[in-house]
Amino acid sequence: MSDVRFGKFILSDYSDALIVTDRHIAQLYGIEGSNVYFLPRGERAKNFDEVTNLCRWFVREHLTTDGLVVAVGGGSIGDAVGFACSIFKRGVNLLHVPTTLLAMVDSSIGGKTAIDLDGIKNVVGTYFFADALIDTNFLGTLDGEMTLSGYGEILKYRMLDARVDELCGNGASLSDIICACAQYKQKICAQDPFCKGERNALNLGHTIGHAMEAALDIPHGVAVANGLYYETRLAAELGVCDSCYADRWRAEICKRFTIYPLSEQMLSLTLQDKKNVAAGGSSTVTFVLPPEFGTYSIPFERVTELAGR
Ligand SMILES: NC(=O)c1ccc[n+]([C@@H]2O[C@H](COP(=O)([O-])OP(=O)(O)OC[C@H]3O[C@@H](n4cnc5c(N)ncnc54)[C@H](O)[C@@H]3O)[C@@H](O)[C@H]2O)c1
Ligand SMILES: [Zn+2]
Repeated sequence: MSDVRFGKFILSDYSDALIVTDRHIAQLYGIEGSNVYFLPRGERAKNFDEVTNLCRWFVREHLTTDGLVVAVGGGSIGDAVGFACSIFKRGVNLLHVPTTLLAMVDSSIGGKTAIDLDGIKNVVGTYFFADALIDTNFLGTLDGEMTLSGYGEILKYRMLDARVDELCGNGASLSDIICACAQYKQKICAQDPFCKGERNALNLGHTIGHAMEAALDIPHGVAVANGLYYETRLAAELGVCDSCYADRWRAEICKRFTIYPLSEQMLSLTLQDKKNVAAGGSSTVTFVLPPEFGTYSIPFERVTELAGR
């Protein structure tokens, strides 16, 4: 896996590469030319039809396995382009240029690609490791909601990594915080690229987070912050963490995020979580819980009982 580079993005350096972005980003940053392909904005980029059309464009552009594709965008562009690059000719070189805070700290690192199918998010995907070039200048045009979403993932890194927490507590620059999050993710993914062990820790907040994202249609990072809130409470209820620890983090989360009520519908969506395994029984839900960030399979009945308190 390559290093995360951190520097000024100079588009002309990549003029001989194929660039994939969306029209909104292209307009904001003057990305144009015959080597540029536009996917729809946001989640609408993440499906087989869009990936098929992108691969057809790769064919028309005579993309070879020594060519380069540059994905300029948020996590949706990164996921869809990453998936296309992983299957086209069994893999072509890819550089992620993340343009959202969430993509900078999280989705552009670690090689997970995904598209949605029949309304199920990220159900089809591959592992495909690519480079990332992070340039925080892109953040200047990000709206408040998308910025907040990135802070949801940063909160996760604060809980996981003492260095990120220290930087946030000391008022470090956002660039330094992004760099620390990206380096932390890269370190964990290098140790466990295919998510068989310690990489599972990165799913902290995501069991309830994904369920809330699907039920409420809120940005990913906002849902993750809510997931961190409820899963930390669950850890305290189960005696996995102590109540001081849980209170500290729940207060931290509430400083920035609205906490939405947890419904029965959301809880039943946790039964579809990708971390759940058949060996745990059809009605157990897998959580990553603090402070050790191990995985816990909890009977669904117990989850509803504790979450309802
Ligand atoms: N692969 C992974 O490891 C991973 C991790 C976390 C999330 N994800 C995925 O990432 C996706 C969410 O990504 P996201 O939060 O980055 O949002 P997004 O990619 O869905 O983008 C949302 C919107 O932001 C706009 N935008 C992007 N950059 C901008 C900029 N600099 N200025 C102004 N507008 C800009 C886009 O045009 C788009 O309309 C989800 O599909 C999620 O599943 C993947
Ligand atoms: Zn996430």
